Amino acid sequence: MAAIDPASKTLAQLGAATPEAVVQKFAEVRARFDADLVADANPQNWSAFVANWSGRKSGMLTKIGDNWLKPAPKELKPIVGQEFQKLKSHIESALESKRQEIESAADHAAAARDQIDLSLPGVERPIGTQHLIRQTYDELLRIFLSIGFSVVEGPEIETPYYNFEALNIPEHHPARDNMDTFYIEGARGGHLLRTHTSPMQIRTMEKQQPPVRIVVPGKVYRRDNPDATHGYMFHQIEGLAVDTDITFCDFKGTVEYFVREFLGPQAKTRLRPSYFPFTEPSAEVDASCHVCGGSGCRICKFSGWIELFGAGMVNPAVYGFVKYDAEKLSGFAFGMGVDRLAMMKYGITELPLLFQNDVRFLRQFP
Ligand code: PHE
Repeated sequence: MAAIDPASKTLAQLGAATPEAVVQKFAEVRARFDADLVADANPQNWSAFVANWSGRKSGMLTKIGDNWLKPAPKELKPIVGQEFQKLKSHIESALESKRQEIESAADHAAAARDQIDLSLPGVERPIGTQHLIRQTYDELLRIFLSIGFSVVEGPEIETPYYNFEALNIPEHHPARDNMDTFYIEGARGGHLLRTHTSPMQIRTMEKQQPPVRIVVPGKVYRRDNPDATHGYMFHQIEGLAVDTDITFCDFKGTVEYFVREFLGPQAKTRLRPSYFPFTEPSAEVDASCHVCGGSGCRICKFSGWIELFGAGMVNPAVYGFVKYDAEKLSGFAFGMGVDRLAMMKYGITELPLLFQNDVRFLRQFP
C-alpha cells in the first residue's frame, strides 16, 4: 500500500465538498485497491493484505467508515453512504475470489506434489527369510500340535528349585556336574540360566491339573567349551504328557510318529536305555541314519543309527513335588536339541554357522 493514506483525513479535509468530488474520492480508493490486489496480494502476505483493506480495527474500510462517512455533512451523507456500500462490496467480493484462487492454487500444488505414477516400477524391498532354527522350530512344533500338544513358554532365568530340585536332582547329585551351570551372582535366593527346558514340566504341573500335553520351545544355557557342536546357548523343545492312562506304548507310539514325521516314513526308531533323574525308565531315542538308511556310513559312524534326543516315563518322584497323585497318574517326557536336529537334517557340521548370521550361509535355507 502507498504511504499516503487518504482515509485518515475527512472528506472535508481532502477538499471533497460536492457529490462529484465524493464519487471521485471513492473511485480513487477503488482504483488503488484494484491495483494493489493485482500487484501485491500473494499467498505469503495474504492475511496482512486482507487486514489492510477489510480488517475490523484499522482496515481501510473501517477508516473510511469512521473518517469519511460518520463526519459527512448531512447533504453529502446519502452519496457517501452509497459509495461506501459500493466500495465495501467491491472489496469484499474481490478479496473472496482472490482467496479462493490462492487456495485452489495451493491445492493443485499439493496434488501435483503428491502425485503417484502408478505405471512406474515399484521399489523392490528385499524380504528376509526365517532363520533355519526358527524354521526347524516351526516344523517340530507343527508335528506336536497335530497330535494335540499345546505350546507354552517359560523363563530363561530360573531358580535351582525348578532347574534341579523339583526335577529330582538334589544338591550333590552328579547330574548337576554334567550340566555346567551359569549362576547369576548376587541374585537373591540364587538364580541361574536354565540348563534345559525341563523346569517348565514343574511350572506347568504346579499350575494345571492333568491331562497335561505340552511342548516348550526355548533357549537353554550351559558352560560348555565352544566347539563345532557346542556353544554356551542352544535351543530345546521339551515335551510332557501326563494323564490317568498313559503307558509306555503311548510314549513309544508318540516318539515313532514324531520320527517318521520329521525324517520321513522310512525312518525307524530305536529306544536305548539311558538315565535322567526325572524319568524312569529313561531312554535315548535313536533314528535309523537318514543318510545311509541304516547300512552304516561316516555320518552315523557306521552304526546305522543317529541319536536324536532323551526321553522317558515321568519319574513318580517328580509328581511328589507338584502334588500330583503318583498312584493314579503316569506320563512321559522328552527333551530335544533343536540345533542338533537342524544340523543333522540339513547336513550342517559346524554349530557356530547357525549363529554367525552370514547371509551366504543363511540363504541356503530360504
Ligand atoms: N532335560 C534333558 C536334557 O536337557 C532332556 C530330557 C527331557 C530327558 C525330558 C528326559 C525327559 O538333557
